[in-house]
Amino acid sequence: MRVLALESSCDESAAAVLDEHRGLLAHELFSQVELHRIYGGVVPELASRDHVQRLLPLVRQVLAQAGGERVDGIAYTAGPGLIGALLTGAALARSLAFAWDVPALGVHHLEGHLLAPLLEPDPPPFPHVALLVSGGHTLLIEVSGIGRYRELGASRDDAAGEAFDKTAKLLGLGYPGGPQLAQLAGSGRTGAFNFPRPMLDRPGLEFSFSGLKTAVLHAVQGRELTPALRADIARGVEDAIVDTLIGKSLRALEETDLQVLVVSGGVSANRTLRERLRVAVGARGARVYYPRIEFSTDNAAMIAVAGLARLKAGEHDTLAIGARAQWPLASLTAVGA
Ligand code: KG4
Ligand code: ZN
Repeated sequence: MRVLALESSCDESAAAVLDEHRGLLAHELFSQVELHRIYGGVVPELASRDHVQRLLPLVRQVLAQAGGERVDGIAYTAGPGLIGALLTGAALARSLAFAWDVPALGVHHLEGHLLAPLLEPDPPPFPHVALLVSGGHTLLIEVSGIGRYRELGASRDDAAGEAFDKTAKLLGLGYPGGPQLAQLAGSGRTGAFNFPRPMLDRPGLEFSFSGLKTAVLHAVQGRELTPALRADIARGVEDAIVDTLIGKSLRALEETDLQVLVVSGGVSANRTLRERLRVAVGARGARVYYPRIEFSTDNAAMIAVAGLARLKAGEHDTLAIGARAQWPLASLTAVGA
């Protein structure tokens, strides 16, 4: 089976073709970063309008790269995300599926992130613990198979990506803040600022990152933000977030007695997190798996992985065009169940 996949849940338009036997045949992405930059964040209506213009050319491009052969199904991100943006992908996917007389399936964006590491040459085995850290979610999940997800812990307030983005804003960095803050942290001194490691001192697998914003606000208030000071604060923020994510991930491995950790979602592109987790997880005799950096952040290849698994099992949608801004991961069903 070969599937075409579309991603349009936020500010990235993407398309990919994945073949059951030959693997990933093509994947392309258009980032809207430049479009939203002057507003300091994603403007939903602008995002939707841009997806409408970008998606079809991206589809043409990946189909041509994949050799122009027909596809047997179409997967698209149906949620969670910006509803207008999601609907542009849903409408295109369903229309193409109708025209080509193939099944279409709406995929859960976070299931895409969870399954992205399966695209790598050395994919993680099941069962494993997944740390899913994106712009909107921070979750620890026990993954016993595709569609078999048990939530172990989540953030009570801001997601890790949000914490990166909001503190970056306080430091006067532009959108998207996470990668810029991470880069700045590289030249800062560890320990110059000791921000709280939220919830790390308490039992359980919950996170809370909203206090970090306040701590950073206090650190910058009434001070002249010199480049050196900004770098030290950025270092302090990154260290606090990374320490918290590592502490809770190790605790999740311990509590589930599992030896495999998978880290995905936009924040998993963070190199400090990757390196420090590799050491910490290795020290307890376990292994950590990541998607390649370009599939850590939003992309269509990961939607193709989730879509292929489910379309192959016979799942498909009706002809109605729909999407869901909110969609609990726990409501997904096991594949082939
Ligand atoms: O998964 P993703 O691309 O989109 C969502 O589904 O939300 O995640 C985006 C998030 C943003 O908060 C962004 O700042 C963060 O991932 N991010 C990073 C890095 N790259 C992306 N955070 C820290 N360090 C990075 N290198
Ligand atoms: Zn995402």
